[in-house]
Amino acid sequence: MNFHVMTLFPEMIEQGLSNSITGRAKDKGYISFDAVNIRDYSADNKHRKVDDYTYGGGAGMLMQAQPIYDCFQAISAKIKENSEKAPRVIYVTPQGSVFNQTMAQELAQEDNLVFLCGHYEGVDERVLEEIVTDYISIGDYVLTGGELPAMVMIDAISRLVPGVLNNDESAETESFNNNLLEYPQYSRPEEWMGKKVPAILMSGDHKKVDEWRLEQSVIRTKERRPDLYEKWLEENKPEKPKNRRRKKLTKIEEIIQKLEGAVLYREEDDK
Ligand code: ADE
Repeated sequence: MNFHVMTLFPEMIEQGLSNSITGRAKDKGYISFDAVNIRDYSADNKHRKVDDYTYGGGAGMLMQAQPIYDCFQAISAKIKENSEKAPRVIYVTPQGSVFNQTMAQELAQEDNLVFLCGHYEGVDERVLEEIVTDYISIGDYVLTGGELPAMVMIDAISRLVPGVLNNDESAETESFNNNLLEYPQYSRPEEWMGKKVPAILMSGDHKKVDEWRLEQSVIRTKERRPDLYEKWLEENKPEKPKNRRRKKLTKIEEIIQKLEGAVLYREEDDK
């Protein structure tokens, strides 16, 4: 995966991503970062100006279309040397769809991603219309520029690229898989500040441990992210058994019964 970032602060991107797991993945060649300074494409050689006043008035300066467009053309030409596919171009903006793990998984399938980081009061709409394929926000708050949101997305996408995480850093069991948050975890010592590690985790019974973890995940999700819990519940309601000879509940049925006071079944099965 090659990340290309159009920015006024390329050092911010390079420094922010060159450490820890993304830095290691870059050194090993699983991902690459190309932070391109939009100022290098300013038509104004002397002052390297990239912004100007907004037509119609209003506070603040706007990033102009031409330097961004020329910067994008240079990145595009580079991508074309190795790929026939036109890249997705992401404008990071509070006006976009809110980023989540599903979007990270989808974007991790691409070979090249181009990010445009805005500054000042925004970007001339015409260049956005010309080059942008996706408008993405990292949440409902406003930051001073697009570099941090771009780095947040690049980090989340990178760790899903095959090879980037080691086996023991696996991306599979963690929060947001199946709409559930991760279960609580414990390391040594067995007792700390009078708090003991749950006995089941030391039982050596893997099936019981897995069941306990699933239940803890569901309880935690219901408490902390009721919106995700509702999605999980909808997707995990069991099918209504045709005849109720089977007495023993499945683990999922048991958990739902515990948390909802009854086992809930899929609606279509009642018809
Ligand atoms: N630029 C400024 N704030 C932002 C946000 N919340 N998400 C994405 N880009 C931004």
